[in-house]
Amino acid sequence: MLRPLIAANWKMNLGRTEQALALVRRLRPAIAAVESVEVAICPPFTVLPALAEVLRNSPIALGAQTMHWADGGAYTGDVSPGMLRGLCEYVILGHSERRAGHGASASDEAVNRTALAALAHDLKPIVCVGESSAQRDAGETHAFVGRQVSAALAGFETSAADRLVLAYEPIWAIGSGQAATPAEANRTIGLTVRGAVAECLGEDGAARVRILYGGSVSAENIGSFMAMPEIDGALVGGASLKPEFAELVRAAGG
Ligand code: 13P
Repeated sequence: MLRPLIAANWKMNLGRTEQALALVRRLRPAIAAVESVEVAICPPFTVLPALAEVLRNSPIALGAQTMHWADGGAYTGDVSPGMLRGLCEYVILGHSERRAGHGASASDEAVNRTALAALAHDLKPIVCVGESSAQRDAGETHAFVGRQVSAALAGFETSAADRLVLAYEPIWAIGSGQAATPAEANRTIGLTVRGAVAECLGEDGAARVRILYGGSVSAENIGSFMAMPEIDGALVGGASLKPEFAELVRAAGG
C-alpha cells in the first residue's frame, strides 16, 4: 500500500505572506491527527520561504508549482532546481494551465527535462497529464494521455519510482465543478497512466508510483476517489484555498 498524497495547488492565489500564513496556521492543528495521508501545499514562489520556515519539523510538506530545468542563466522570470532544493520537497510539472499558456517551456520535452532535473536535485516531481474535452469526445484520451506519460518519463530509471508522482487531471474537470466519476478516473489512471508508467519503469516500478486524481475534488467527493484501488491521492485546486481544506484532508484520511 502506498501512502496517499493530498497535494494543494494554490495556483496564483494566497501569494502574500500574511494570507499564506493565516491559512497554514488554521490548517496545521486541524490536520495534525491525520497520519494515514501525506499533505503537501504548493503555494506561489513568493511565499515558499516563509512557509518553509513555519512548517519546519511539521508533517506538512511544501511544493513549487513549476520550475526551469537549467541550473541558472539568462532565463528571465524562471526559478531553477537549485533554488528550490532544500526549500520544498515537491514540484508540480506540466500542469495543463502551464502547458496551455507557456509554449515551449511547458512542452512534453521540457516537462521531461525538468522532471529529470527535479530528481537530480532531490525534488519529487508531480507530473500532470490529462486530456481536453474535445479529445475526450473524440475517444483520444487513452492515446493522448499515454503519450504524455511516456514523453514525461523518457530516460527515467526504475529507481525513480518511489520519488515520482503523477497527477491525472482531465482538463474538462479542472475548476468546472464537474469531477470525473471515480470509476472513470480509476480506469484511466489504472489502464492508461499506470500502464504507460509500466512501459517506462516496469510493472514493479509502476506499482510504486503514486498517481493522483485532480479536477474539482472536494470534501464531499474525496472519499469516493480514495476508495478506488488505482488512485493514490488527489491534487486539489479551489478546495485547498480555505480552512475547510482540513475537512477534505480528514475525509481522505478516512
Ligand atoms: P480544481 O480542484 O480547482 O478543479 O483544480 C484542479 C487543479 O488544477 C489542481 O492542480
